[in-house]
Amino acid sequence: MNFTGIEQITHGVEDLNECIRFYKDWGLTKVSADDNVAVFKTLDGTEVVLCLKDDPALQPAIEDGSTMRHVVWGVKDEADLKAVRELLSAQETYGEVDGCPACIDPNGMSISFRITQRHAVDIESAPLNTWDQPDARTDRASTFYDHAEPVKIGHVVFFVADLAATEAFYVDVLGFVVSDRYPGAGTFLRCATPGGHHSLFLLERDDKKAGLNHVAYTVRDIHEVFGGGLQIDRCGWKTQIGPGRHPVSSAYFWYVESPAGALAEYFTDEDYCTEAWVPREFERSNEAFTEWAIAGGIDGNTRRQNASLKNK
Ligand SMILES: [Fe+2]
Repeated sequence: MNFTGIEQITHGVEDLNECIRFYKDWGLTKVSADDNVAVFKTLDGTEVVLCLKDDPALQPAIEDGSTMRHVVWGVKDEADLKAVRELLSAQETYGEVDGCPACIDPNGMSISFRITQRHAVDIESAPLNTWDQPDARTDRASTFYDHAEPVKIGHVVFFVADLAATEAFYVDVLGFVVSDRYPGAGTFLRCATPGGHHSLFLLERDDKKAGLNHVAYTVRDIHEVFGGGLQIDRCGWKTQIGPGRHPVSSAYFWYVESPAGALAEYFTDEDYCTEAWVPREFERSNEAFTEWAIAGGIDGNTRRQNASLKNK
């Protein structure tokens, strides 16, 4: 079965107001906010729900502090939803969340499935004048973004306590497909074929503790990665690393520390995989993580590498 991607994520957070400020600066649209819950959305309607971390309505946390508490994956229609319900029903933790089939994955993360509510987005990416297509953009300057407006959530990444068990659940039970691997250390999974290189990345760290690593927001082109990153710096948020480029997935990235837990990533230009894609294996290393990258980011005002970090 093909899933349609990530529909909704819920974070349990320590400081709701700080998170509301972050996601506005990040470029999401605020749907609603009160003292206990805020909802934002991307351009295609993917939802980010923020709740106070001690809200009793939240699913159990996989780690202390602000972090992800629930992921909703999308399916195309009622028939697919019924099929997922059947796939999940043998799981010990099978249940319902908001009337949708749900369970707890082997890493402790609460997940559920719903018919997609995301919609097509009519926006233009900046054409690139390349050697074999020098006139893709003719008689007009390219695009410069003064902030990002993420189109959707492209992937979520978790530290997992048991990589083999968690991978087996997503592959054998749900039918996700392995795109690439750090053997014994990490697995890049896509929920649809053809589709983007990964919608879920499972990463085992040395202490084998579960946790959130990052949430990746898709932007339309490389210029929006840069424009978004510069703006988020001007808003006072801290870049962990970026801009940069991943050898695995080929994507450009910019990672920022998020008050909702772990990191948020702007990314674009990931590999697109059909059934012809052959999974590869990479040794987990700096070289596999980044072809190149700027640690600490770029100062959005000086337009130069962050001075406080460039000698580190
Ligand atoms: Fe990512």
